[in-house]
Amino acid sequence: MKEKERATKTMKHTITLIPGDGIGPEITSAAVRAIEATGVEIEWETQFGGAQALEKFGSTLPDELIDSIKRNKVALKGPMTTPVGKGFTSVNVGLRKALDLYANVRPIKALPNVECRYPELDLVVMRENTESLYAGLEHVVVPGVVESLKIITEKASTRIARYAFEFAVREGRKKATAMHKANIMKLSDGLFLDCFYKVAEDFPEIEADDKIIDNACMQLVMRPEQFDVIVMENLYGDIVSDLCAGLIGGLGLAPGANIGEEAATFEAVHGSAPDIAGQGIANPTAIMLSGVMMLRHLGEMDAADRMTKAMHDVFREGNIRTPDLGGKASTAEFATAVIEKIG
Ligand code: NAI
Ligand code: MG
Repeated sequence: MKEKERATKTMKHTITLIPGDGIGPEITSAAVRAIEATGVEIEWETQFGGAQALEKFGSTLPDELIDSIKRNKVALKGPMTTPVGKGFTSVNVGLRKALDLYANVRPIKALPNVECRYPELDLVVMRENTESLYAGLEHVVVPGVVESLKIITEKASTRIARYAFEFAVREGRKKATAMHKANIMKLSDGLFLDCFYKVAEDFPEIEADDKIIDNACMQLVMRPEQFDVIVMENLYGDIVSDLCAGLIGGLGLAPGANIGEEAATFEAVHGSAPDIAGQGIANPTAIMLSGVMMLRHLGEMDAADRMTKAMHDVFREGNIRTPDLGGKASTAEFATAVIEKIG
């Protein structure tokens, strides 16, 4: 399609852009450049959150940021650092809760010609995003004894299971597996599992099964191809996401979306990587692929396809890749190579 025809097919979107902390500004700028190269018209509304916002605005999660996402309904988000110390609850968890972004969708798909343990792998981590131990309800019972509350509700467990099965149908997937520890946490994980199987009854075309989480981790490392959509409460989903990123070549490659009824944010699985921040060497692939997920969410399928193809072409050619994949290219050089392919 010619550039001009393409432009007439898209409408202008206003999107909240959160550069974030650490490598965040470097990788989000790479993603923004590539997204803009597709010709989709976007007005970015830049907002600050995390450690950076604390310095500027005295809050890790300013109201302006929340209001901007509520207004625009879509955000592209860099990683945010939660300052260490008492009194700071996780800024990322806080944002997901504030917007009720209950479904964390993390596709784990190997990229062409990228050396990794499972080059054929293609599964999706579906993580409940609003409760479990991440409710942050902790207190000191007596000095030397603390209690951390794991909250599991029928409502949230049913909602994530339904999202997972509907996703499986929509995406032509065959199977959904719940991962849990219901043998030990009979009430909490037991409820999560019950809700999963209850929802499964409405989707006879999708095979449903479950695995205890410790065995599931071993199975994921040894035979991950047996899984398709995997569904978990918050803590297991957090840990298993990073494990799965390792199966396809590392954290630099795993994208994600946080989906709610009213809004959605798109961000990589990884964090702000302070160990490599400011060096211009972070791999922007994960946030760029999150950008592709965002384009699909916006209905910009053609742009999403072209950006994906351009990234795949760069990987296939293999000479431009960031140091985490054994290459010498900078974050910006990788983005430029992708943009040249988008044409
Ligand atoms: P991390 O994910 O930032 O880094 C883990 C390791 O992976 C590091 O060695 C890092 O250099 C590497 N890595 C991560 N992303 C990479 C990329 N794009 N390219 C190349 N290498 C990459 O995890 P860490 O160090 O435990 O957390 C750092 C900070 O990030 C913490 O403050 C944490 O709270 C925050 N965090 C934020 C998240 C978010 O905003 N959604 C998610 C996870 C952590
Ligand atoms: Mg994590």
